[in-house]
Amino acid sequence: MARSAIINVMVQAAMKAGRSLARDFGEVQNLQVSLKGPGDYVSQADRKAEDIIFAELSKARPGYGFLMEERGAVEGEDSQHRWIVDPLDGTTNFLHGIPVFSISIALERQGQIVAAVVYNPAMDELYTSERGGGTFLNDRRLRVSGRTKLVDAVIGCGVPHLGRGHHGNFLLELRNVMGEVAGVRRLGSAALDLAYVAAGRMDGFWETALSPWDVAAGILLVREAGGFVSDGKGGQDMLEGGSIVAGNELIHKALLKTLKKPVTPR
Ligand code: IPD
Ligand code: CA
Ligand code: CA
Repeated sequence: MARSAIINVMVQAAMKAGRSLARDFGEVQNLQVSLKGPGDYVSQADRKAEDIIFAELSKARPGYGFLMEERGAVEGEDSQHRWIVDPLDGTTNFLHGIPVFSISIALERQGQIVAAVVYNPAMDELYTSERGGGTFLNDRRLRVSGRTKLVDAVIGCGVPHLGRGHHGNFLLELRNVMGEVAGVRRLGSAALDLAYVAAGRMDGFWETALSPWDVAAGILLVREAGGFVSDGKGGQDMLEGGSIVAGNELIHKALLKTLKKPVTPR
């Protein structure tokens, strides 16, 4: 499969950071970690990976701006382009030795996400997507699942934890969803959740209280695999609003409806 120049640049940055993360993952016990907030650990590996991605992308496309989890916003001379990067999505998994984490890189052009790479170095799974060009896992073209009913669907979600998210709201949403679906999963990397929806492994996904770098790349992966993505209200404020609902057309619609249902005692 021939990749475009911009996807090559992004893949190279993700793979280089991925090699660094994979080495550190092997030595996860020895990593020094600092406590950023309750339950939210940031490791040296995370910062190293971000530095690698920042250096690679700055070298390849000088002038583009950045929005990165550790650095925050970095203005570029080119106001049309911005990289949105999570160097390690799934930090809690990483620190616990669970091989479900990823690097997420999106390119925004004039406010629109036009290219995306999500890479899980532990499984060597590389998801790439370019606007209008489809989504690929390694070299295989992806398509969202064909299931049409929630009753057959496996749905991914995020579970709020100590110091994060609205626990009461989540319990209401979960109660609605769990009564209507075949299974609920919590992977622990929002970027991979969306990649799994793109790959048809999960039929849908919802989460709230996310940051732009968690979802920017994944949104394009799902759309270019034929799926639908919105915020929790059905609008398009996923990056700033922090909520997201994804799936194929029918599951996305059904999930939105189910999440909003008033809870009836059962
Ligand atoms: C987290 C993961 C997780 C989601 C959290 C995010 P991090 O990102 O995407 O799946 O539930 O809300 O913060 O902290 O591992 O980069
Ligand atoms: Ca993240
Ligand atoms: Ca992160």
